Amino acid sequence: MYPSGFYRDENGELNVQGIKIETLTAKYGTPLFIYDTGLIKERYEVFQNTVKNVKGNIHYAVKANDSVNIIKFFGKLGAGADIVSIGEFHKCLAAGIAPNKIIFSGVGKDKNEIEIALRNKILQFNIESEEELYDIYDIASKLKITANICLRINPDIAPDTHKKISTGEKETKFGIDNEDVVSIYKKLHELDYINPVGLGVHIGSQIFDFNFFMKAYLNLKSIADNLKKNGYKVPTLDLGGGIGIHYDSNKKPDFIAYKKIISDIFLKSEYQLSFEPGRILIAEAGILITKVIRNKKNKDKKFIVIDAAMNNLIRPTLYDAYHKIEPVKSKIGRSNTVDIVGPICETGDFIALDRELVEVKSDDLLTIRTAGAYASVMKSNYNARVDAVEILIYNGKSYKLKQIDTIQDTILKEKIIDFN
Ligand SMILES: Cc1ncc(COP(=O)(O)O)c(C=O)c1O
Repeated sequence: MYPSGFYRDENGELNVQGIKIETLTAKYGTPLFIYDTGLIKERYEVFQNTVKNVKGNIHYAVKANDSVNIIKFFGKLGAGADIVSIGEFHKCLAAGIAPNKIIFSGVGKDKNEIEIALRNKILQFNIESEEELYDIYDIASKLKITANICLRINPDIAPDTHKKISTGEKETKFGIDNEDVVSIYKKLHELDYINPVGLGVHIGSQIFDFNFFMKAYLNLKSIADNLKKNGYKVPTLDLGGGIGIHYDSNKKPDFIAYKKIISDIFLKSEYQLSFEPGRILIAEAGILITKVIRNKKNKDKKFIVIDAAMNNLIRPTLYDAYHKIEPVKSKIGRSNTVDIVGPICETGDFIALDRELVEVKSDDLLTIRTAGAYASVMKSNYNARVDAVEILIYNGKSYKLKQIDTIQDTILKEKIIDFN
């Protein structure tokens, strides 16, 4: 048995499930995303245990990593899905997730998306405005298909996270203001083809201070309890996702603290809960391997130019995010303070700034850790760069997740106009 995740062997070389990373880069090239199903399973089971003493279902937040095979693997582990577009819905279907295990979240579902989701009888829509309710009502009445509706509350809570992934404050586009929830929830009961199923909340991502979750969940439960007292049915509560992970150390999220919050608030209640974890299930199970193109020195600065770039991993420049970076083969020697940058013509194209790194040379391999979530899924082809290859390690074997278009493939897809 091998340790789960990415580990060093006795020679200091990085391995996964008994395979040397260098063997994988020799076969697939770089930049290369590698996902370990062993670690995905381990993380899923930890989360499952964390919430097992309350009545609840896990809906993997597909936005974290929407590879069909990864969704399929979560499905095999028993998860449903949380989606934010009909594109993600089709990926879930391809992954074998039943529509009745799919929650459709998101602030901008368009009419076409609503119709497809309704016709396929998805589990529920988590709606974010009264306007959205009436769009769904129009389509549901026309199709004569009942829509299960959950209202996403905006509790006006600002968690300790990056502004761009904070979603529970009043000034963000997400959710329905606390004050309006009750009146809209009551309206759900008056409409044909609309079935009220509960309330939900998701205050953001990468949250470490769980007091913010506690506040949000208590607020959610208190509104739900009041509605129930007044005779309205509120069978389910959706607690969203958002648990933070440590990108800079091997520390695990405090699952015990999360379990205590969930148990304290919900153990004695009747609510059926939904959880929508994304990052904690998949982030650590992915790495991005990159090759050093060259060292570059300016008068005041040292750069390591690598073959991965912001089009493969935008988190550092978008969220000021930290990713651990180390040589694939352990090295001892002098280290320098360097910027680790990609080849894209943008100053914002960096993976790390002012980072201490052991001296490396052209063609050395580096691993960028914790690249399983919100990484490849946010890729682009900027600067006419082709996608990185992505592979999954399962039962000691590597599988390519998809065919990658070459630059010639992409040019062939462009419609060339004859300007004569
Ligand atoms: C509605 C909703 N649920 C769940 C998630 C997953 O969050 P995380 O990956 O932090 O667990 C998100 C992420 O933004 C979200 O918007």
